[in-house]
Amino acid sequence: MNPIKHVAIIMDGNGRWGLKKRKSRNYGHKKGLDTVEKIIKASIKNKIKFLTLYAFSTENWKRPKKEIHFLFNLLENYLVNKITQLNKQNIKLKIIGNKKFSKKLNNLLISSEKKTSKNNKLQINLALNYGSKNELVDTFKIIKKNNIKINEKNISNNLFTKNIPDPDFLIRTGNTQRLSNFLLWQLSYSEIFFEKKLWPDFNENDYNKIINKFKKIKRNYGNI
Ligand code: IPE
Ligand code: IPE
Ligand code: MG
Repeated sequence: MNPIKHVAIIMDGNGRWGLKKRKSRNYGHKKGLDTVEKIIKASIKNKIKFLTLYAFSTENWKRPKKEIHFLFNLLENYLVNKITQLNKQNIKLKIIGNKKFSKKLNNLLISSEKKTSKNNKLQINLALNYGSKNELVDTFKIIKKNNIKINEKNISNNLFTKNIPDPDFLIRTGNTQRLSNFLLWQLSYSEIFFEKKLWPDFNENDYNKIINKFKKIKRNYGNI
């Protein structure tokens, strides 16, 4: 049985879900947040230590302003209303990605990270303005600037995910089979599960099914 330390998720399909319900794409984003809460709870039940959620990519800035605004408003409200609860649940929040938002949101993100920094039940890595290629370029710049030796360990140690084990598996919902610039380095040996359901329809049962499938996989890492 494979142990599970780290699960990464590309939460895709909110927009299509909203439209399918004859409502707006933003309605789908709102519903998607309910799934996030369910999956956080289920991760704790399964004793998972790290949960990395792709919430906004460096490419998502191409979307209409109205949708971007809605998404960041949703995040802001969520943190304002729920950070105390997350803290009580012993959850640590870490943002991965460049914090280049409004001053207000940046401060909220930093204070949320600070408030929960000593927690150790579950670490949630929220990928915000995250792009893997951008992360790698920044890492190589740090390495060059500090004259650090280039090797796998030093690259890993200068990514946003330093001190976090690589994901054991990745789930992408929304019936799309691509990585969309997510954790390209970190996922190099992760198992990948593409899920047909749109993110707002994904539930604890679906998650547990994937977890059970993962546990039984023979992981070779090049060996036989
Ligand atoms: C993923 O859902 C959430 C974000 C990118 C913020 P989408 O918004 O990409 O939903 P679809 O893929 O258009 O249905
Ligand atoms: C990936 O989903 C990003 C997030 C889930 C935050 P997208 O919907 O943006 O991916 P593409 O553009 O379809 O590849
Ligand atoms: Mg999408």
